[in-house]
Amino acid sequence: MKNLPLEATGRIPGRRLLHSPGPTPVPEEVLWAMSRQPMDLGDPRGDQTIAACEVGLRRLLQTEAAEVFLYASNGHGVWEAVVENLLPVGGMALVPGTGHFSESWAVQTEALGRRVLRTPWVEGRPIDLHALAQALRQDTLQEIRAVFVVHTDTSSGVSTDLAALRAAMDATGHPALLVVDVVASLGAAPFGMDALRADVVVGASQKGLMCPPGIGIVAVNAAAMAQARANPAPRYYWDWVRRLSDRSYHKFCGTAPQTLVAGLEAALGLLFREGLAQVFERHQQLTRAVHAAVDGWRSAGALEFFVPDPADRSVSVTTVLLPAGTDVDALRQVAREQFQVAFAGALGPLMGRAFRIGHLGDQNPASMLGCLAGIEGALLVQGVPIGRDGLARAVAVFQPAAR
Ligand SMILES: Cc1ncc(COP(=O)(O)O)c(C=O)c1O
Repeated sequence: MKNLPLEATGRIPGRRLLHSPGPTPVPEEVLWAMSRQPMDLGDPRGDQTIAACEVGLRRLLQTEAAEVFLYASNGHGVWEAVVENLLPVGGMALVPGTGHFSESWAVQTEALGRRVLRTPWVEGRPIDLHALAQALRQDTLQEIRAVFVVHTDTSSGVSTDLAALRAAMDATGHPALLVVDVVASLGAAPFGMDALRADVVVGASQKGLMCPPGIGIVAVNAAAMAQARANPAPRYYWDWVRRLSDRSYHKFCGTAPQTLVAGLEAALGLLFREGLAQVFERHQQLTRAVHAAVDGWRSAGALEFFVPDPADRSVSVTTVLLPAGTDVDALRQVAREQFQVAFAGALGPLMGRAFRIGHLGDQNPASMLGCLAGIEGALLVQGVPIGRDGLARAVAVFQPAAR
């Protein structure tokens, strides 16, 4: 490779604040834990690290007995694991609409030769529980084998009340398994797998778990394991039964991503050291600060929350609608290049109409206020009309009297 002059690579002084809703910033302690040589596959430290992650994830998911499987994959990988294990080819899943991510999971399920029944997605609203219950009631042949629920849809910023969803499913008496995607909420909002009677839970390393992308997580209860065992669909890498082993080589269907697993162990340790109650309270407070800033900005009449009811908004990400004609990519570029703040654009049907502020993972008041200041600066540079007290409102959230 041609040698570049030293200055040609550029340097970002200080830090660029990362406020995408995943990947999220990785704490120093996690980076240090990953700064190690690979191990030979017989080294007991490898097995110990994996075991520590399994124990930690059971604790975080609040489950006593679920099997935890880790994959060298992203979130799409564990979506695929769910489909391959739970549904025979031609089998059916119900996917209630939450936005881009429910639709992506549905499309992937169909691409794998399974059938999908969808409930409609209403923009800015969580899952329509009435439509969900109706779909289950109308399935008199009980063809629906599982309901795939996205807890927090990262595109819309909507979270669905899972206890209410469970109650709606129970009321129908339908035996379909409940599968919950907590990719965007794990480590940011409380989740109790056993209390919810969720049969399968899927997550990923790069959001509330504060790790780099690369580990997919699945927790599976006994009922879902039984359905997987009875499922004749051919599979290998994703197969849960094959991964039931004490040996890490089998657990991962090959070599484990040792470096990432070491990072995950450290990240779980950080969450428990802070205390889960404190972690969740911190996310709520950061979310209140973001809402306060957006409330200030929207007073000029140009910006709007995508999710009108604050009770439906997630503690992980906030989606903000922009006036028609705003160049979202240019706005992001100004924020990134002039203010060193990286936030997300919109996805799917919202593309070009909105931007998203990530407030999950290793964030604190300083990082959040820095992010909001950078966004405010970029909005001003781009001439988007905003109320000027957004930042002041956000600061007020962190004043002792406001807590
Ligand atoms: C809720 C949710 N589920 C699944 C995924 C897919 O994860 P990945 O991009 O790691 O494949 C994402 C990605 O952002 C997500 O937000």
